[in-house]
Amino acid sequence: MRGQNSLPARAERPWWRDAVTYQIYIRSFADSNGDGKGDIEGIRSRLPYLKKLGVDAIWITPWYPSPQKDHGYDVADYMDIEPDYGILAGAERLIKETHDHGMRILVDIVPNHSSDLHEWFQDALKSAPGSPERDRYWFKEGKGEHGELPPNNWRSVFGGPAWERVIEADGQPGQWYLHLFAVEQPDFNWENKEVHDYFKDVLKFWLNRGVDGFRIDVAHGMVKLHGLPDIVAPDPKSEMLAPENRPFWDQDGVHEIYREWRKILDSYPDNRMAVAEAWVSPSSRIARYLRPDELMNSFNFEFLSSPWKPDELKKMINHSLEALAEVGAPSSWVFNNHDVVRSVDRFDLGLIAGSGTTTLERQGDEKKFNIVRGTQRARAGALLMLALPGGAYVYQGEELALPEARDIPEDRLTDPRWSMSGQTDRGRDGCRVPMPWTKDSSGAFGFSNDPALTPEDAWLPQSSSWGSFSVEVQDGDPASTLTMYRRALAIRRNESGLGDGPMTWIDSEPLVLAFSRLGNFACYVNFGEPIDLPEGSEVLLSSGPLVGRKIPTDTALWLRLSK
Ligand code: GLC
Ligand code: CA
Repeated sequence: MRGQNSLPARAERPWWRDAVTYQIYIRSFADSNGDGKGDIEGIRSRLPYLKKLGVDAIWITPWYPSPQKDHGYDVADYMDIEPDYGILAGAERLIKETHDHGMRILVDIVPNHSSDLHEWFQDALKSAPGSPERDRYWFKEGKGEHGELPPNNWRSVFGGPAWERVIEADGQPGQWYLHLFAVEQPDFNWENKEVHDYFKDVLKFWLNRGVDGFRIDVAHGMVKLHGLPDIVAPDPKSEMLAPENRPFWDQDGVHEIYREWRKILDSYPDNRMAVAEAWVSPSSRIARYLRPDELMNSFNFEFLSSPWKPDELKKMINHSLEALAEVGAPSSWVFNNHDVVRSVDRFDLGLIAGSGTTTLERQGDEKKFNIVRGTQRARAGALLMLALPGGAYVYQGEELALPEARDIPEDRLTDPRWSMSGQTDRGRDGCRVPMPWTKDSSGAFGFSNDPALTPEDAWLPQSSSWGSFSVEVQDGDPASTLTMYRRALAIRRNESGLGDGPMTWIDSEPLVLAFSRLGNFACYVNFGEPIDLPEGSEVLLSSGPLVGRKIPTDTALWLRLSK
């Protein structure tokens, strides 16, 4: 038996131990005013859709004023709303209406870096080296005779050096500032107390407006090893996100911040929470973020990074559950988000998502892509994920089995990865294309309220096939992926053995993952040749059609066992 054993009943334990949270990439979800960009009013209009889908919570990607160099992950003001997305009063209405629909709402907080247009960074540029204004970021003298070389050998996650030189008041090149991501995303200096105080105020600002919690961007990145030492013997080709030790990821000091934040969360009623985006491994390192006085959830990126192979998935599941049981935390399973190639493509092409991978490993060879098999696997993966102990995060479009959009013309690519990699990495736009709501292409397949908007006019162009994946086409079709997600979430809600709690592996063939949950519930995922249904079992849900009493390849089943 693995997972949490002695838990209070679901109704008595905090919601974040079991919740299925739906990630809304605001720019691409629903556009209320015809400008081709999603917005807050668009989300409000789709709350009934989310309610019907059956998710417990929504997470909204950054909606703050931003020059959108990294689509909102470059925040110019943490306590207001991006004019393209709406106004603060609209955000407050959305928070209230989400609650009225019986769902929770998380906002995205970006504490590792701000936008270069943030007031503090603008002040820092205008201020002298050594000033308190510069101390809120990482300004350093360069190396070399005239300071013409960057202060150390760190590189940006998006490509190129992690340092940018500024022009000082005298018109001469002067200090350099650190940006682990885009040039327009200067890193905060978390050795500075003002930064700590500022983010505590930001948390309270949104908690006071009723949000249920936060998704913490680059949660493993804020604290840098003191003195900013060089990466030792870096492989120039290896990416910044490589899993080896880095002087800017997963430093001990980051946990002090979360202890401070936990106190703030706990000072509010109704189980406010935070989920970490921490690309760290192994699972024992993730568990450190989930100690009882720190955060509540951390995305399980080892699971997301597993290829579609039963042994690898099983290993990851076991590691996670063991590591998290040590700290009494639930796992947060995830297969998709706005940073990785969609699971339909990944599972078919055997791709590895995320850290330390090359472009080809990430995006794969389109010519080999078999969408039928990819969709079958993504659907089976969803039933696996939703049957495992803990909570899960679902990314918009996943419930439609949207594939990666591979046909965005180069001159329409917007991800900073594209330009910063010297146009060798197409980046992440392919998983961010606006949602198709209708079969017909008007209003960019219903993405926009304005019927005149074409799929080309959406901020990222939609593929011509997008309508066939639309909500309209899938709604009410018993065989659609949308129907499968709705049924799975409905079953999950009523099945007290699902969500957090123990699981037990069932002995099975090597290419089958099978486990049971309390209440004689079982999940079977078949990766190999067709196998017989377990005797006397009743099928609750299936990711694809059965062949007689056989479970076909790449199919998952939810079953009630006879004993
Ligand atoms: C996180 C976000 C990603 C963003 C990066 C920099 O990884 O998920 O979209 O580019 O942080 O903020
Ligand atoms: Ca809009």
